[in-house]
Parts: sequence; structure tokens; C-alpha cells
Amino acid sequence: MQVVEAKDFKIPIVGLGTWALRGRECARLVEQAIRIGYRHIDTAQMYDNEAAVGEGVRASGLRSEVMITTKVQPERLAPHDLERSVKQSLAHLRLDVIDLLLIHWPNPRVPLAETLGAMAKMKREGFVRQIGVSNFTVALLAEANKVSPEPLVCNQIECHPFLDQDKVIAACRKAGMAVVAYSPIARGGANGDEVLERIGKAHDKSAAQVCLRWLTQQGIVVIPRTSKIERLGENIALFDFELSDTEMREIAGLARRDGRIVDWSWSPKWD
Ligand SMILES: NC(=O)c1ccc[n+]([C@@H]2O[C@H](COP(=O)([O-])OP(=O)(O)OC[C@H]3O[C@@H](n4cnc5c(N)ncnc54)[C@H](OP(=O)(O)O)[C@@H]3O)[C@@H](O)[C@H]2O)c1
Repeated sequence: MQVVEAKDFKIPIVGLGTWALRGRECARLVEQAIRIGYRHIDTAQMYDNEAAVGEGVRASGLRSEVMITTKVQPERLAPHDLERSVKQSLAHLRLDVIDLLLIHWPNPRVPLAETLGAMAKMKREGFVRQIGVSNFTVALLAEANKVSPEPLVCNQIECHPFLDQDKVIAACRKAGMAVVAYSPIARGGANGDEVLERIGKAHDKSAAQVCLRWLTQQGIVVIPRTSKIERLGENIALFDFELSDTEMREIAGLARRDGRIVDWSWSPKWD
């Protein structure tokens, strides 16, 4: 598995997303994913599946080789709440350490310096290995990098060909942070797209694989989710073909104004 390096931390370039996966199904998918080569699993306190993720990781027998990310809910970003929730996540996961801890969504009601200070403390005390953020804008990234006592290794953001994320990607690169793409196959929307299907045919690949390849070829980490064991293999078979510059540009041209899938309207607002 290829890795993306950020601030001396190596992130496997393909991970398994687990939003909406629960219970035995989730544990089974995680275990099988690791068995076939996944080395990165993405969960969150909000997904209510940390216990199942931990069960799958332990069942694989390969815990030490796998990077586990979890994310703190926005309403738990005050230092005391954050520390308690991280300990709860570890108890649910039943693992030794959280490899990567992210702020799931920013919360304007809690000063960033306080949250990042608490995350740094969790790192110093050995509960987590590395810290980062998710759903951070260019402006928030600048503030976070200024006030964080510890390096921030990534920004996990919605990223796929139908959404132009060039500005925030450039800001991550400038700050030495990895970009982790969530909803990387546009929640299944890659399939059926005429351009992705046509390019896929030329390489004997599916539209979903073209979508994932387009991202990984730019050095972007992807965390596709599937509930189907048979698709796990498809979603990591990305390294035996290469998109040409023309194909890369054509795919970038699919971005549109209404391309965002994940709804931000529920998230805490700035006054
Ligand atoms: N940080 C955040 O705020 C945030 C927000 C959203 C998501 N995430 C993370 O990112 C992960 C991925 O994003 P996502 O779950 O939103 O969307 P996604 O991975 O882009 O798409 C998942 C959907 O695509 C389908 N699919 C998977 N592989 C496929 C293939 N090879 N061909 C065709 N369809 C395929 C799946 O259906 P089947 O199950 O039928 O295969 C599922 O419906 C999440 O699971 C979560 O871990 C983070």
C-alpha cells in the first residue's frame, strides 16, 4: 500500500470509510478489508461504530500494521469534554492507541487553541499518535496551524471530481498537511458518469476506480466506503494503471457549482 507522508507521519493512501456501517456487518468488512490489504480505517464518534471497527481490527490479527482514525464530535471540543470523549473512543475501540485523531467539524463556540491544546495533551499522554482536522476552510486552516502546539497532519474534506477543492487543497499543501478525501466516489455518483465510464473502459476499470485513481494520482488519500465485500478489492485496485494528463484534465472539468454532497447546514454556525 502506497503512503502519503505529512510531517513525518505516513498515511496509507487508500482507507476504508465506515460511515453508516454498523455492528457485525461493519466488523466483518473491516476484518476482510485488512486481510486483503487495507491499512487504514476511518471511523468517528458520530458513526456509532467504533466498537465494531475495533472488533474487526482485532479479528484481523494485524492491529500493529493498521492506522485507525477517529473524529471528535463538534459538541465535545471543549478540553474536558474532548479528553473524556477520547478515552471513551479508546474504550469502545478496545485498542491501545488512536493513530489519528481529528476534529470532525469546527465549532465556533470553542476557541480552536483550547481544542488543539487538549488534543496535543492527549498526544503527549500517549492516547493518540497524531492529530489533524476535518472540514476546515482555508481561513480556519491558517488559524489552526498558527495555534496548534503539535503538528496537524491532515485535513479530511469532501473531495471528488464533481467538486472544485483546489483552494483548500493548495492551502493544505502549503501547510505540509495531507488531504484526505471523503465521499471520494461521490457516494456512488461516479458510476453512470459518462466521462468516468468512458475513461474506465479505456483502462478496463470501473468509473469508481477512475475516480479514486484521479485522486490518488494527485497524492490525495481516499477513504471509499462499501457495504459489499466484493467491492473492497475493486476499491484498492488502483495502482496497475495510470491516467494521462489529458484524462486528468478532463476529469477535473467535471466540477460544478452544486457538486457538494455533504450538507453543512446542520453544523455549528459562526455568529
Ligand atoms: N469528515 C467528514 O465529515 C466525513 C463526511 C462524510 C464521509 N466521511 C468518511 O468518508 C467515507 C467515505 O465517504 P462516503 O461514505 O460519504 O461516500 P463514498 O465512499 O464516496 O461512497 C459510498 C457509496 O458508494 C458505493 N460504492 C462503494 N464502492 C463502489 C464501487 N466500487 N462502485 C460503485 N459504487 C460503490 C457504496 O455502496 P455499496 O455499499 O453498495 O458498495 C456507497 O453507497 C465515509 O464512510 C466516512 O468514513 C467523512
